[in-house]
Amino acid sequence: MDFDVSPLTQEDFGDAYALWESSEGVVLQSDERHPHVFVRFLSRNPGMSFGARRAGRLIGAVLAGHDGRRGYVYHLAVAADCRRQGIGKTLVASVEREMTRQGIWKVHANVVYRNLRAQYFWKKLGWFERDDIALFSHLLLPG
Ligand SMILES: CC(C)(COP(=O)(O)OP(=O)(O)OC[C@H]1O[C@@H](n2cnc3c(N)ncnc32)[C@H](O)[C@@H]1OP(=O)(O)O)[C@@H](O)C(=O)NCCC(=O)NCCS
Repeated sequence: MDFDVSPLTQEDFGDAYALWESSEGVVLQSDERHPHVFVRFLSRNPGMSFGARRAGRLIGAVLAGHDGRRGYVYHLAVAADCRRQGIGKTLVASVEREMTRQGIWKVHANVVYRNLRAQYFWKKLGWFERDDIALFSHLLLPG
């Protein structure tokens, strides 16, 4: 393995954001441009989000956290020139290990329907697609 995986820190914001922004299939919300949103997520979920680095370059990243009951994975991405080298799989394994360590036994990932590559990936890793639930969302206005 010629890359290292370690927890993301707030210093990784710029590199991680650039990676996500350039990765088709990763959906970024407008507030995520602000580093404090990233920092808040990391501080609420210490040690659960990971970056993969090769020769100092951030080549993969994933955000993950849990609410005490279920785990959630967001923004998994590997740089386009580094794919199919097991980096995504290793990042997810790091998240799963940490979830298990913290007593979380079910983890969810949202995948946009048109992202077939990601669907193949998650299925290959043993994650299963839900056909029994639909995701409902509600936008709350800042008050
Ligand atoms: C999805 C993604 C993170 C996978 O990262 P990766 O490092 O290339 O994945 P891995 O090398 O660990 O792949 C593990 C296995 O998943 C499957 N897989 C990965 N990419 C695949 C593809 N494009 N087509 C079919 N199967 C794929 C393969 O079975 C692969 O094992 P193999 O290479 O030995 O056959 C990467 O393609 C990516 O960043 N895509 C753009 C962003 C994105 O869509 N993120 C997902 C959001 S839910």
